[in-house]
Amino acid sequence: MPIEKVILAESDENLRRTVAEFVRSKRIDVAEAGTVQDVYGYLGKDEFDLIFIEAKLPECELIDFLGDLNQRSEKPLVVPLVNGDPDSFVLECIKGGAFDFLSKPFSREQIEIALHKAGNYNQISKTNAAIVESSVDDAEREILGESQLIEETRKMIKRVAQTQVTVLIQGESGTGKELVARALHTQSPRAQKPFIKINCAALPETLIESEFFGHEKGAFTGAVAKRQGRFELAHGGTILLDEISEISLAMQAKLLRVLQEQEFERVGGSKTIKVDVRVIATTNRDLEESVEKGDFRQDLFFRLNVIPIYVPPLRERVGDIQFLAEKFRELFVRKHGVSVEGFSDAAVESLGNHDFPGNVRELQNVVERAVILCGPDGSIEPEQLNLLGQALGQPERQSAKGAKIDEAAPEKDGFPSMDEVEKEHIIRALGQVDHNRTKAAKLLGMNVRTLRNKINAYREEAESEEDLAKLGDKD
Ligand SMILES: Nc1ncnc2c1ncn2[C@@H]1O[C@H](COP(=O)(O)OP(=O)(O)OP(=O)(O)O)[C@@H](O)[C@H]1O
Ligand SMILES: [Mg+2]
Repeated sequence: MPIEKVILAESDENLRRTVAEFVRSKRIDVAEAGTVQDVYGYLGKDEFDLIFIEAKLPECELIDFLGDLNQRSEKPLVVPLVNGDPDSFVLECIKGGAFDFLSKPFSREQIEIALHKAGNYNQISKTNAAIVESSVDDAEREILGESQLIEETRKMIKRVAQTQVTVLIQGESGTGKELVARALHTQSPRAQKPFIKINCAALPETLIESEFFGHEKGAFTGAVAKRQGRFELAHGGTILLDEISEISLAMQAKLLRVLQEQEFERVGGSKTIKVDVRVIATTNRDLEESVEKGDFRQDLFFRLNVIPIYVPPLRERVGDIQFLAEKFRELFVRKHGVSVEGFSDAAVESLGNHDFPGNVRELQNVVERAVILCGPDGSIEPEQLNLLGQALGQPERQSAKGAKIDEAAPEKDGFPSMDEVEKEHIIRALGQVDHNRTKAAKLLGMNVRTLRNKINAYREEAESEEDLAKLGDKD
């Protein structure tokens, strides 16, 4: 993130003018200050990336100033301008949080180096903040499978990763689209640069533009500070536009421009920002169909679909089911510290007969649950896999899985009521999509708000921690 705005606090006017002129020549905004009051004045009005400050600015204790700055949420980097060689005072400043220092007299080149270093630091710290939220164990990121189809997908990734082209990954929910996107990044020359994901379905229309492109302070109600968007954070690396079909036509137009020109403005800003970002998009809808219906711009579709990768559903690569089940068993046995031998023949058959509408994610969840439910040193039985609607008409299993039996509608001869079946079905859907309510609503074909209300009602009725866990986190 290059430095864009600095405060230059220096009481020697000549020096201040010379330095300000030079910094401005680097196309950086400079606010000139002669006193510490001026500095506070600027900080109250705007946001700055860096402050050059005279170490002995009149009426200013630099150490106190640094301490004060540290209390703020948005902290500019501070570079004191000190007299002569560095001494113990400089050391104190660095301990107190100063980023760097310049010894007077300093050259233009030294100023430039300080700005450059600060820009790099900015980029790393902001990007780290965005990456932390998506960090996953590397072992869980390998694309596993022995089928011809998955082998072809892996080959395709290897070829395409080397290029800069935009890739559109299509496939049903849970097939591994995100995994493919990450592989495209980690096998590319950009691997050391950021991989930034943006979930288009999860963001309300009002926030999506600022999430993509960032905003200037005061651009809209709630924009209390300047903020970099995900495109800026991904500079040099890869951006994943997850569930791209969900963005509005207005946002599609803006996105098209970034893809064509690799430039944009922040919300409320006029400065054009250029970025070098490789774009990968995913969707579990048929985008061509969305284009035909007029929900998705055709030109954007062509831009995104330079290289299409289709991730096949698990039922089209049945050979992978058992292989993956075995890999997941090993993984979860390690994770939960239990010992589970393997799958019984009946369990293998039951896996083979299921069509996995939730794809690999469903298989992963099914195996994890079975590993936990399986007795010590035993092998996994079909009951623990609990596939298909086997629960229907089996009251013991009903209550074991937490469906509450309503007093007003007692079970007749073990036959569950509609409400029970619905609850059971919702819990199953939640399990398949890692308790992501938006996805569960999609899977169930119901409104997400209705789903949320139902889940909240179930939470109130829940009788154990286990029941609550099945419903996922509170919203
Ligand atoms: N081939 C595979 N090998 C190992 N794990 C896989 C594979 N495919 C998918 N997974 C695992 O399945 C889960 C779902 O994968 P992922 O999130 O990539 O799916 P997706 O297609 O993006 O789903 P959605 O459309 O719901 O976002 C993840 O935990 C992922 O690690
Ligand atoms: Mg995904």
